[in-house]
Amino acid sequence: MKEKRKTVVSPSILAADFSRLREEVRAVEAGGAEWLHLDVMDGAFVPNISFGAPVIRALRPHTGIFFDAHLMIREPIRYLSDFVSAGCDLITVHAEACSNVKATLEAIRAAGKYAGLSVKPGTPVEGIFGLLPLLHTVLVMTVEPGFSGQKFMPEMVEKIRVLDRERQRRSLSYLIEVDGGVFSGNADLLREAGADVFVAGNAVYGKEDKAAAIAALKG
Ligand code: DX5
Ligand code: ZN
Repeated sequence: MKEKRKTVVSPSILAADFSRLREEVRAVEAGGAEWLHLDVMDGAFVPNISFGAPVIRALRPHTGIFFDAHLMIREPIRYLSDFVSAGCDLITVHAEACSNVKATLEAIRAAGKYAGLSVKPGTPVEGIFGLLPLLHTVLVMTVEPGFSGQKFMPEMVEKIRVLDRERQRRSLSYLIEVDGGVFSGNADLLREAGADVFVAGNAVYGKEDKAAAIAALKG
């Protein structure tokens, strides 16, 4: 029987009220979230612009929560030092956005940060198998990246299963993070498939009671 792992919840401030970000971050921290998901978008890799390193840097002194940065930007290697000095703990880049994915991951690790790699829905996970030993997390997108509040793509669950089997087979220890349309109604399915970290925009920031919303995701 598979042991039951603890689910980490990473609320995405993309769905928060940007005019009161400090309070919005503190609310999820007080509500039991271990991580905070920071969706950085450049308007080129994805069809939306969100915020960048200066906003992350401004939040850093106000919270002790683990900063989980999801960089949806082209050639993120150009800006890594900004995200490192801004206080990110985990830096996740997209396989599709880097001309040299390995060098980008190595640069994150060399800076002393946790390294994550994400794949868009159309990118097979088998394509990143060679990089798995370098990774602390794999972020499986279950919507097309760009916006909060989209509908979960159930056909992506198989990727989580494949990644879970692969880490067992090779005795690797990366965490599997799932991002897009996660809510209490699919949390058990995702957990059963092997996901460890749930990103949640709407499912947490769309709710008045953050602690209850986070608890519902943890099951
Ligand atoms: C989408 C982002 C997600 C988004 C999730 O590009 O990567 O992190 O904020 O929002 P929900 O949970 O509302 O789908
Ligand atoms: Zn994200």
